[in-house]
Amino acid sequence: MERLTVGVLVSGRGSNLQALIDACRDTAFPAEIALVVSNVADAHALERAREAGIPTRVISHRDYQDRAGFDAGLDAALRQAGVQLVCLAGFMRLLGHDFVGRWRDRLINIHPSLLPAFPGLDTHARALKAGVRLAGCTVHFVRPEVDSGPILVQAAVPVRADDTADSLAARVLSAEHRIYPLALRWIAEGRVQVKAERALVTGATAPDGLLINPARAGA
Ligand code: GRF
Repeated sequence: MERLTVGVLVSGRGSNLQALIDACRDTAFPAEIALVVSNVADAHALERAREAGIPTRVISHRDYQDRAGFDAGLDAALRQAGVQLVCLAGFMRLLGHDFVGRWRDRLINIHPSLLPAFPGLDTHARALKAGVRLAGCTVHFVRPEVDSGPILVQAAVPVRADDTADSLAARVLSAEHRIYPLALRWIAEGRVQVKAERALVTGATAPDGLLINPARAGA
């Protein structure tokens, strides 16, 4: 089996990277990570990659005069490693139009909200403030506007009355760790096509039923 060659861009803790590493560890999984790039030299994500024996690069935006230069550095590193698909996993730099265009439909991101609601930062605090009853996460193809692009998969989790931004973030994060490897698998299996700015996934089924929150006590 020919496995899809993946590059992962990170800036921090790397728990989503870890979920992808764990999935790819299974030789039957249709993708493998060839390179992890961080713009932050001491990102914990880099340690996770090293521990898994995955090549790493630090490409700091501070070493470049402008975004175009930084993006070109990233692009060159990914190409050198033979990367076919780029996964953003807690990568905290905005990528320019050129980079996003060059990797169009080969660049995905995970965001901790049910997009298009709550793009950007402080997602969970804003969701709590808005009083939404369902929160969640989204894996999507990347377009130049922040946290936008064709949606591949979403997972919803309930918001509890006593949630804090941290407790909600933790519940959403475990859902992230489930859907990111799933989205990667579907792309690697050739099940995903982007048509008219919608991602079509063949061979995946959505379970019927309603997710209602709050639910009646004892029901
Ligand atoms: C995740 O919540 C992800 O959705 C967002 O940034 C966070 C990164 O966490 N884009 P980690 O570095 O993967 O642990």
